[in-house]
Amino acid sequence: MCGIVGIVSEKAFSSRTLLERLKRLEYRGYDSYGVFDGREVRKRIGGIRVEGRGRSTAGIAHTRWATHGGVSERNAHPHLSCDGRIAIVHNGIIENYEEIKKDLVRKGHSFASETDSEVIAHLLEDLLRRRSIEEALPALIRALAGTFAVLIMIKGRDKIYAIKRDSPLVLGTADGRTILASDIYAFSDWTNRAAFFDNDEIAVVGPDGHRFFDRNGKRIRKPLRTFRWEEERTGKRRAKHYMLKEILEEPSVVRRLLFSLGHDQKPAFHKLLRLIRRSRKVIFASCGTSYHATLLGAYYLHQVGMEVQTLIASEFRHFAKVDRDTLIVAVSQSGETMDVIDALKYAQANGGRIVSIVNVPHSTIQRMSELSLNILAGPEICVASTKAFVNQAALLLKLAQAFGFKVNCDNLPDRIQTLFKARAKIKAIAERIARSKDAYIIGRGLTYPIAREIALKIKETSYIHAEGMMGGELKHGTIALIESGTPVVSLINNNDADIISNTKEVEARGAKIFILTNHPTLGGSEDTVHIKTGNDGKFGILAAVAGQLIAYYAADALGRPIDKPRNLAKSVTVK
Ligand code: F6R
Repeated sequence: MCGIVGIVSEKAFSSRTLLERLKRLEYRGYDSYGVFDGREVRKRIGGIRVEGRGRSTAGIAHTRWATHGGVSERNAHPHLSCDGRIAIVHNGIIENYEEIKKDLVRKGHSFASETDSEVIAHLLEDLLRRRSIEEALPALIRALAGTFAVLIMIKGRDKIYAIKRDSPLVLGTADGRTILASDIYAFSDWTNRAAFFDNDEIAVVGPDGHRFFDRNGKRIRKPLRTFRWEEERTGKRRAKHYMLKEILEEPSVVRRLLFSLGHDQKPAFHKLLRLIRRSRKVIFASCGTSYHATLLGAYYLHQVGMEVQTLIASEFRHFAKVDRDTLIVAVSQSGETMDVIDALKYAQANGGRIVSIVNVPHSTIQRMSELSLNILAGPEICVASTKAFVNQAALLLKLAQAFGFKVNCDNLPDRIQTLFKARAKIKAIAERIARSKDAYIIGRGLTYPIAREIALKIKETSYIHAEGMMGGELKHGTIALIESGTPVVSLINNNDADIISNTKEVEARGAKIFILTNHPTLGGSEDTVHIKTGNDGKFGILAAVAGQLIAYYAADALGRPIDKPRNLAKSVTVK
């Protein structure tokens, strides 16, 4: 949540360059943005417009997802100190900002915004009255409680100072430029070399290069690492939205993952199998769409007699019993989700072992893990996760296969490609669902996690209220909401008699039924999508893809801002 970026360069660059980099982080927050080019601050409400002529050798910028204080120009970053000399951009939450603010107000500071972030600029100004910048930065880290990735500039100096705790921050170098950013996507088209900040570290970046320091101001060595982050082809290309582009990439990203699991990631994959075998208890920890992937993974593993637990990370500490024989498998696209990080800290404190399955390389969750597998979905720009879900699920299916689950994973990419041939029919179904204010998606067993995932996709992209349910649970309450014409999407795997009965129960109460099934003779022609696949678990993933398309076309029919839905952000770095 919130994206920050800063560039220091040997040669002058324009604000356009800075805004272009910021635009690549817009998926982290998009209610307002601002830049500081060493001379002046410019702020705007709304989406980032890449424009501006001013040139400088250093600049910082911020795209906001509001936490403290509403969406307004004065709450947008960068924030200035009282004397206007210090400019800062911040991602995170300063938990003790009220206390700091009170103290500074007593000393005569006046504040221009309602944010927690502004105190950072004022506090640094206060610290600099008695200290050099080298002494003030460690003091600033010590004084702040909470989470922060902060970039600081002082007027008249072509330097950026950076500090970080628990919010992501990376540094990349490319052709005489050093770039600091919330994540590698800000510069992954410039370089694949980066240094990843650990907590309470400081960096000083000038035209002559960068230096890292620890929280006491002692110089530390931090090597640049090479990362692999394959972009399919940048831009939306022919697809109208990133969401559609990313769905259409699914066959190729699944192929890439399957190849990698049999080649470069094979040793890590086998190590994961060993760790699972040796652990008395295995618990998945994740949020949102990633949680739905783990629910599907738990189903697959259960089919081969393995008992694994999956928990939503924000509730992990309330429901998980962790000890030294517990293996926690964190699953996260961004690798930065604060609720997951928090669950892992809790697990670590109780002696649990941490492994992870992530998309963004070298992300915090990956670095917290003793072993981590990459799902290799490449950059996912649409806020709603699609191709990452498919690759998470495909990896978990491979895992179950390694434990004895009978499935042919190799033809999954082709099966997804074949499903795309039904796009016109799926679109027609979506356009009918788009006319309703509510929708229900029902599944059982294999398709229960998918029902939840499809409902989440519909909610976040089209704003239609959607519930994803266990078919068996409907009659215990929710069926009261079914009226004449209420759309119900039923996910029927292989002629499952129970879900067919549940479908009939809602149909008898007037629901408009749509069916996604792999059974060739079920359902009517218009309202049923027949998905070609056998009874080997792949139907779950394929039904999810069909559901992603339903969500996409429903949102498009309603004219929603599909790639950046209201109130959301791609990387949820607050609790
Ligand atoms: C929904 C979506 C979110 C994320 C969730 C976890 O489309 O993208 O529900 O799945 O915020 O994010 P990661 O996977 O980055 O931990």
